[in-house]
Amino acid sequence: MVIKRLKFITTSILIMLDLKGITYQPQTGDKKIIKNLNLKVDENEIILICGDSGSGKTTLLEIISGLIKPQKGGISWKNKVLSCRQRRWFCGVVFQFPERYFIGTTVGKELKIGHKFLREKSIEIVLKTVGLADINLRTPPEQLSGGQQRRLAVAVQLLRNPTILLLDEPTAGLDWSMKCDIKNLILNLKDKNTIIIVTHEPKLFQGISSKMFLIEKGNIKKLRKENHEG
Ligand SMILES: Nc1ncnc2c1ncn2[C@@H]1O[C@H](COP(=O)(O)OP(=O)(O)O)[C@@H](O)[C@H]1O
Ligand SMILES: [Mg+2]
Repeated sequence: MVIKRLKFITTSILIMLDLKGITYQPQTGDKKIIKNLNLKVDENEIILICGDSGSGKTTLLEIISGLIKPQKGGISWKNKVLSCRQRRWFCGVVFQFPERYFIGTTVGKELKIGHKFLREKSIEIVLKTVGLADINLRTPPEQLSGGQQRRLAVAVQLLRNPTILLLDEPTAGLDWSMKCDIKNLILNLKDKNTIIIVTHEPKLFQGISSKMFLIEKGNIKKLRKENHEG
């Protein structure tokens, strides 16, 4: 009985993604971009991060995903500290304008990059998840619409089965209907994935996430709901 209760207490205080005291200054920069930043994200939660241009949003995603190493602080998942290398495996990042970086000559080849073995079934499931079930795998990525290209970029990451999906300005440069397209894609991933979205269009993602943060002067603060509604 006592053990059962203890087990309950330990699991109930398990923090999923936990950033503690993150400080980062690029070697080529003269000031800290991120200063003693703390952030917690629950499993299968979707959070929004906004902030002015140059406030450090992309840098934060690069830190979380292990692409750059902060000078101070730690990042853990379920109370276990993860190295940069572990986080690279753990995270799937869709950078801003991902379509610029496609290197596969066809959709099928783009999806298979980096995979020695990939079951056709996995491709089928992922394409269905991102709403590209009817796509011809022999289509060159540049012939897809803007919204479809973004979906393909998300599919590439989902095939890696990431624990956390990081999306940097997923709607940047898209027209209104394509923006809604991406919103629907994220809605489809809701409750199944832990997702961090960097956006300057928080209103667009209303209803997907109720947690929104602002990066300012190297730090992050939670915004009250009314700050991002209207
Ligand atoms: N490697 C670097 N060297 C020097 N400054 C950098 C480097 N990377 C980013 N910065 C600076 O850090 C700030 C934050 O950049 P970034 O994370 O790209 O902002 P955001 O994504 O919010 O627009 C900017 O002022 C940028 O110029
Ligand atoms: Mg950026």
